[in-house]
Amino acid sequence: MYSQAKVIAGGLAHIPVVIAVFYFILTTFNKRALKFVEDSKTKKPEAKAVETKKVAVLKTEASKTESSKTEAPKIVKKKHADVPVNIYRPKTPYEGTVIGNYSLLKEGAIGRVNHITFDLKDSDPFLNYVEGQSIGIMPAGEDANGKPHKLRLYSIASTRHGDDFNGNTVSLCVRQLQYEKDGETINGVCSTYLCDIKPGDKVKITGPVGKEMLLPDEEDANIVMLATGTGIAPMRAYLRRMFEPTEKEKNKWNFKGKAWLFMGAPKSANLLYEEDLQRYIVENPDNFKYTKAISREQQNTKGGRMYIQDRVLESANELFNMIEDEKTHIYLCGLKGMEPGIDEAMTKAAQEKGLNWSELRPQLKKAGRWHVETY
Ligand code: FAD
Ligand code: A2P
Repeated sequence: MYSQAKVIAGGLAHIPVVIAVFYFILTTFNKRALKFVEDSKTKKPEAKAVETKKVAVLKTEASKTESSKTEAPKIVKKKHADVPVNIYRPKTPYEGTVIGNYSLLKEGAIGRVNHITFDLKDSDPFLNYVEGQSIGIMPAGEDANGKPHKLRLYSIASTRHGDDFNGNTVSLCVRQLQYEKDGETINGVCSTYLCDIKPGDKVKITGPVGKEMLLPDEEDANIVMLATGTGIAPMRAYLRRMFEPTEKEKNKWNFKGKAWLFMGAPKSANLLYEEDLQRYIVENPDNFKYTKAISREQQNTKGGRMYIQDRVLESANELFNMIEDEKTHIYLCGLKGMEPGIDEAMTKAAQEKGLNWSELRPQLKKAGRWHVETY
């Protein structure tokens, strides 16, 4: 059996062991702490090096700009600070009244495309806009989750003076989205809502938005327009601003450059605003050129559907002579799917002129001369 003295003596004998263990833990911890501090010290310069690298890249860019400044004068992209944006937002949209809604298509056309006009005169603050902007439409009703439908954007098809030149309306060019799914025809929510609305109906409008598709101020600018379907909407506004006599009286913008519209539509009956465009050609033969690609009636050189990119290739030389002129702007609007085709055509067309499109396009973009709005 253990005596009390033996137990005490045994306990005391463990003290050095406990101290030794405690000392071991402490030194190990200290060593790690020291290593961590050392590591952090050595890591800091790495972080600095990354920062320095970033600055170096920026410096290189800046010096590039500096050196190019001496090589040739560059057009600086305008900021358009005075262009109105977001006067009305989704939480407090403006309720505009429909004053017109009619089909833009002829007998035998495919689908449904309407020209729709809203009255803005009671908006306060006034919902003003400029050519090339878009507005948002919030369709009535709720989505599958019982929430109000989200807004959809539509390019404005009228000039700031409106179709009646009184400056208090806005017009859109809307194609009803329709597609087949599991043997069923699905109608797009907002495009169907818009194509169905009647004069007198109230519609929630937001915006205006967008500065990508604005026209330059210069009266001697050249404007090349590449549109498919409803992509004609902003182009219609530009062309009215340039060539519609009453609009011209109002806007005092005396367009003196060349406007060239490439228009893609599936059938002749689907060509939009055709009568106006024909009138502009007759009245402005030296300033307006109109090239159509009617995909389901015309064939390209390979026997396929004729698209605007095929027309671009046919006119490569003339088109690139225009693009080489600093006063030329190019606008692309409509189907997102046309972008690769246009790029390919521009690449080939540029090659024929000894130019490199992959270098030229970013330059045009930087100079604010290449404008794209596809959806
Ligand atoms: P939704 O009910 O929202 O249905 C669209 C959805 O349906 C798609 O997101 C996709 O999920 C699905 N879908 C579509 N097609 C198919 C298919 N083939 N197969 C399977 N699923 C499919 N439109 C115009 O008509 N005119 C304009 O001027 C115009 N301007 C625009 C400007 C901008 C800047 C943008 C971003 C878009 C513009 N649009 C324009 C398109 C417009 O905003 C809407 O996207 C379009 O009207 C469809 O909306 P919706 O509510 O009818 O369709
Ligand atoms: P298609 O539908 O015959 O293939 P809309 O909006 O009225 O349908 O018109 C769009 C036009 O753009 C149609 O002529 C359509 O041709 C054409 N299109 C379709 N896909 C492309 C594409 N990838 N590039 C250029 N045009 C296209």
